[in-house]
Amino acid sequence: MVHFRAWRVHEKDGQFQGSIDMMTQDQLPEGEVLVRVSHSSLNYKDALSASGNKGVTREYPHTPGIDAAGVVESSTVPAFHAGDRVIVTGYDLGMNTDGGFGEYIRVPAAWCLPMPESLSGAAAMSYGTAGLTAALCVDKLLRMGLAPDQGPVLVTGASGGVGTVAVELLARLGFEVVALSGKHDEAGRLKQLGAIEIVDRAVLETSKRPLQRGSYAGAVDTVGGTLLAELLKVIRPGGAVACCGMVGGIELPTTVFPFILRGISLLGVDSVEIPLADKQRIWEKLSSEWRCPQTEQGARTIGLESLGPALKAFLEGHSRGRVVLAHQTETA
Ligand SMILES: NC(=O)c1ccc[n+]([C@@H]2O[C@H](COP(=O)([O-])OP(=O)(O)OC[C@H]3O[C@@H](n4cnc5c(N)ncnc54)[C@H](OP(=O)(O)O)[C@@H]3O)[C@@H](O)[C@H]2O)c1
Repeated sequence: MVHFRAWRVHEKDGQFQGSIDMMTQDQLPEGEVLVRVSHSSLNYKDALSASGNKGVTREYPHTPGIDAAGVVESSTVPAFHAGDRVIVTGYDLGMNTDGGFGEYIRVPAAWCLPMPESLSGAAAMSYGTAGLTAALCVDKLLRMGLAPDQGPVLVTGASGGVGTVAVELLARLGFEVVALSGKHDEAGRLKQLGAIEIVDRAVLETSKRPLQRGSYAGAVDTVGGTLLAELLKVIRPGGAVACCGMVGGIELPTTVFPFILRGISLLGVDSVEIPLADKQRIWEKLSSEWRCPQTEQGARTIGLESLGPALKAFLEGHSRGRVVLAHQTETA
């Protein structure tokens, strides 16, 4: 029987604690495809799962990890064969299905994407769900007609996982990117990624006015809450905001004025439950013309033993860039 390591979260007396446990494959859920995971990555949702957020994970013990890249060990469906390289992100992975913080996952075939030829498992997970989400935001803005000559684009939560990929990708596509960040010491890195200006998060303070001077043609927002409400006030007429996150809160205390007086579009972005074909289209772009070299080279790689503190940093708003979890040496 194959034993493997997994970072499991246990609930005891209302407290949630992670530990590296030994598991066997028969402890994994039912599923068509058994994957030996080479890499996972860290996302805000993993930190919620690890801290006992029942909106994300209902029952413990549980293995978080909403992302996984690896090699198919066995499959009960003809679409996948042993040795195929795959990416699995989102759906229920890492939420109520044991996820990528274990060395093996067993999942429905409908969750598995063939890994693009040109990506290694480590490179794929340097993007992970955060990179996929950033790219989906950019894709939606482009489909709305946003173009570099229309003016600067703002990225909020710029030093985080989604934010850094959004900054690099937009800059590569020729946009003037303004990065909104609460971390002064990240300015150098954000400029390296391609931001032309770093704006302190505190600048978008709550104002009583329903609209402010329109400064940005568009925005990628990872924060939500009052910050998103303030952001809507500074978008130019006809502009668009892609909204994907909630680190700053789930309420949106806005008025209808940005929408009815300036024709601004608020575009919702979900990277979790969208059809697999939509994920595949974006992964193909990230592995070719949308490739972000700094994201791939700059991701920090950790092992299972460092997961606890790395996840805590997300909840405290201290996370920076992308963090990849490496399980073992890739063989394919
Ligand atoms: N819709 C989807 O499918 C989807 C997919 C992936 C992620 N998300 C969501 O997107 C958000 C970002 O995810 P992530 O993985 O990039 O997280 P992350 O790495 O923790 O980045 C979030 C960043 O937001 C800023 N921030 C943190 N706390 C804040 C606060 N209280 N107020 C304002 N800004 C704050 C920080 O950047 P600065 O210090 O630079 O401001 C932080 O680095 C999360 O809410 C996540 O759940 C959604």
